Formats: sequence, C-alpha cells, structure tokens
Amino acid sequence: MIPIREERIIAEMCSSWRKSGLRTGFVPTMGALHPGHLALVQRALELSDRVVVSIFVNPSQFGRGEDLASYPRTLREDCLALEDLGVSAVFAPEADTVYPPGFSSMVHVNHLTEGLCGAARPGHFDGVATVCAVLFGILKPHLAVFGRKDAQQLAMIRRMVRDLRLGVEIEAVPVVREPDGLAMSSRNAYLSKEEREQAPALYRGLLEAKALAEKGETRCSELKDMFREVVDTMPLLRTQYVETVDPCTMQPVHRVEGQILLAAAVHAGKTRLIDNVLIEPEV
Ligand code: PAJ
Repeated sequence: MIPIREERIIAEMCSSWRKSGLRTGFVPTMGALHPGHLALVQRALELSDRVVVSIFVNPSQFGRGEDLASYPRTLREDCLALEDLGVSAVFAPEADTVYPPGFSSMVHVNHLTEGLCGAARPGHFDGVATVCAVLFGILKPHLAVFGRKDAQQLAMIRRMVRDLRLGVEIEAVPVVREPDGLAMSSRNAYLSKEEREQAPALYRGLLEAKALAEKGETRCSELKDMFREVVDTMPLLRTQYVETVDPCTMQPVHRVEGQILLAAAVHAGKTRLIDNVLIEPEV
C-alpha cells in the first residue's frame, strides 16, 4: 500500500465515501507501529466501513531537546502491516502539508492539560490538539480511535471535540502490553537491555497501588507511596510523576471515591515511559 501524501487526494477519497453513505474510521499515529496501534486499527475496522490511518511525526508536539529527530520511522513496514489488516488508506503528509506557510492557529485545551504530562512537557498537548483538529478537518471522519495508554491525550481530545463541536465520535481502546506488563510503545525501542528488564516495574507499581486500593486504602497519598516504593527500588528507573486524577477532567483527587486514574511517568535512562490504571472502589 502506497501512502498518500497529498491532502486533496485523501480529502476527496473520504468525501466520496461519505457521499456513498460509508462510515469512515480514523486512527491518528506517529508510525513505528506496534500491536498497540494495530489494536486501534482493528477497533476502527470493526466500527466503520473504511479506515484511514495517518502516520505523521508531528513536530509541534515535541519540545526542544525531545526526540523528534530520532523518533523511529518505519513507513514501509507500517504500510505493509496496515494493508494486511485491511485499511483503506494511509495518509502520511509532509510537515508543510499539515502546516503550510502562513499557518497560524493553535488549539489549546485548558485545565485538563495542566498536570501530568502537560506539566512535564510544556506545549506538547497544544501540538497534539492542533494536529488532531487539522487531521479531523481534512478527513472529516465519523469516528476516531485513541489508546488509553495516553489517558490525558484521550481526555483532552474528547473535550476538544465536544467544545469545538467537531462531530467526530471518539472511541477508546485499552492499553496493549508486552507479556511482562510493559505497555507497548514506539519509544520502547530506545531502551537498553538493562533498562528493558527494569521497565515492567512501572506497571507493577501501578498494580501494587491498585491492589492496595482494592484492599480498602482510600488515601491516594498511600497509593502513590506504594508506587514509588516499587519503582524507586529499580536503579535505572526514576519517577517523573505519579498522580491520582479524575479520568475525565484530569484534576487531582485525594481519596479513592468513584473511578480514579492512577497515572505515572518514569524515566529509564533517557527514555520517558508512561502508563496508567483505572481504580474503581468496591461497591
Ligand atoms: P502515537 O504515540 O503513535 O500513538 C497513536 C495512538 O496509539 C494513540 O492513540 C495512542 O494512545 C495509541 N497507543 C500507543 N501505544 C498503545 C498501547 N500500548 N496500547 C493502546 N494504545 C496505544 O499518540 C500519538 O501518536 C500522537 O500524539 C497523535 C495522536 C498521533 C497526534 O500526533
């Protein structure tokens, strides 16, 4: 499958499907596809008649000193995998197609983006919101699928679509993990052998904290301490943040009441890993 580079071609394709009454599902990605991405594509295929996947390493969501230049790029392999799954088109634009000369707009979603990864990566979510708004504008999909691995991104996109009446249904897919629990990520390729061995402690820490809540602990501070206990015993891992938040608003919560999201970011050497689990109190 040859990726489509031109905005006009993909836009006309999607518009002709829409006119024929076909439902278009869309999966935005930055490529270097792994089974986590493919689970999103599978979900889109189940829910729609035609599926478009975008592959675009979006410069505006990378901060200075982040890994834009070294981000893994595997377009050929990605296209082969997507063709096998039955995707109708891959949209892989150049940066100046998405951001042509004179481009001046930026979407900022307030509140939701302040904590967690938003605090750790200033400007990141403005880049994500803007590129998703542009891609939704080009493709006008009925549905777009996002992963729960990036829980703050998912919450922000849901908010943006509601606030701006973009008319795109948002579907969420659970985190896809390696057999040892590490959430799949294109960035796992950066890990050294030793870092890779220690990385599953991120998910283990989240699960231990969740188990504590399930035993009746309602103080979020105790859950976060438990997480740090597990992660900080790993010499190559360093906790960047661990937070308990409302899964819809991403605002901090201090007691386990209703559903809460326990989310964390950990550095393994130079690589930043994120993960999260939902905690629901016993009823
Ligand atoms: P990327 O990191 O390529 O991820 C694309 C989509 O795949 C996101 O919705 C992400 O949550 C999902 N995903 C990644 N790993 C996953 C896993 N292990 N399990 C489930 N879902 C997973 O997220 C982005 O790209 C970008 O910010 C983007 C939305 C494309 C905007 O540029």
